[in-house]
Amino acid sequence: MSKTILLVSGDGIGPEIMRETIKVMDVIEQQFDLDFEYDEALVGGVAIDAAGSPLPEESLAKAKAADAVLFAAIGGPKWDTNPPDLRPEKGLLGLRKELELFGNLRPAILYPQLAEASSLKSDIVAGLDILIVRELTGGIYFGQPRGIRTNEAGEREGFNTYVYSESEIVRIGRMAFEAARSRGGRVCSVDKANVLEVTMLWREVMTELAKEYPDVELSHMLVDNAAMQLVLCPKQFDVMVTGNMFGDILSDTAAMLTGSIGMLPSASLDKNGKGMYEPCHGSAPDIAGQNKANPLAMMLSASMMLRYTFKEVAAAEAIEAAIGKVLDKGYRTGDIFREGNTLVSCEQMGDAVVAALTE
Ligand code: IPM
Ligand code: MG
Repeated sequence: MSKTILLVSGDGIGPEIMRETIKVMDVIEQQFDLDFEYDEALVGGVAIDAAGSPLPEESLAKAKAADAVLFAAIGGPKWDTNPPDLRPEKGLLGLRKELELFGNLRPAILYPQLAEASSLKSDIVAGLDILIVRELTGGIYFGQPRGIRTNEAGEREGFNTYVYSESEIVRIGRMAFEAARSRGGRVCSVDKANVLEVTMLWREVMTELAKEYPDVELSHMLVDNAAMQLVLCPKQFDVMVTGNMFGDILSDTAAMLTGSIGMLPSASLDKNGKGMYEPCHGSAPDIAGQNKANPLAMMLSASMMLRYTFKEVAAAEAIEAAIGKVLDKGYRTGDIFREGNTLVSCEQMGDAVVAALTE
């Protein structure tokens, strides 16, 4: 039976990296005898321009109906001064919330070929394999009340609410513990329990939950220390679990350890394994339309989709192996280019991955 995948190309480099990824998916579909049907939807800046909303009803309905969503990138300077509800980011956050994609898996894996592209010394990052499990539909990103108001002194003030219920903490905790079981068996829960009550509860709930997973080792770390440890000694981590905002920040740090944020995919999952798959990077407006973007994180996101939603592990591995081969050959987009490599465009990178799949 055919599976429906909703493509959200979005803004900036989004359409370019999506195009290359579909080229790869077309080959995979044939090679593994799969049957995908693609639909497309506008979300983000393009949706604001075309329909006056970052997440038009029609796009949301398509996302709900699809078996999985492939999401490229949204945002750009054109919409940066829009009021909060008319910002491209609202489209992405709306999809996450409406589809109840509470569990965000962000693997930071260093391809051995890219050790030199990391900003850290290669012995510190060689073999790096961290999984950041970020809570995605709660915390300060969604807490109410929020807004900008005028206070009693007549001064404007901005405010947000950092809130997590116990059940929200438990379900993301379970995802992290389960993931650790199939990896190194260790979970580090990141919080700010020395200051914030919401994360005092987070730490307490994680500690209680750990009793159900005696085979997994749980540790706790304060977020400021975690940021430091990630650049000091990143290989100490196996699975890191944290809230929405800390996860946003730490996953960018982890990304740079791997050479470029252009290499990092992510999966955002609901409780049934339905997911939205997106690269961790943004829409890179500075290079949009120039055929310079790195499409590999988008392709690796498609690979995560094959693995997590469609359970097509061999197909997922084929994409990863093809990317490995392309890196072996020395092909690099600008973000991961070092002397001695062959600089390629976004499109050439797509062609190279297709060639590696079929050779
Ligand atoms: C991410 C991005 C988003 C986030 C933005 C675009 C809203 O930075 O997916 O990490 O903050 O979650
Ligand atoms: Mg981010």
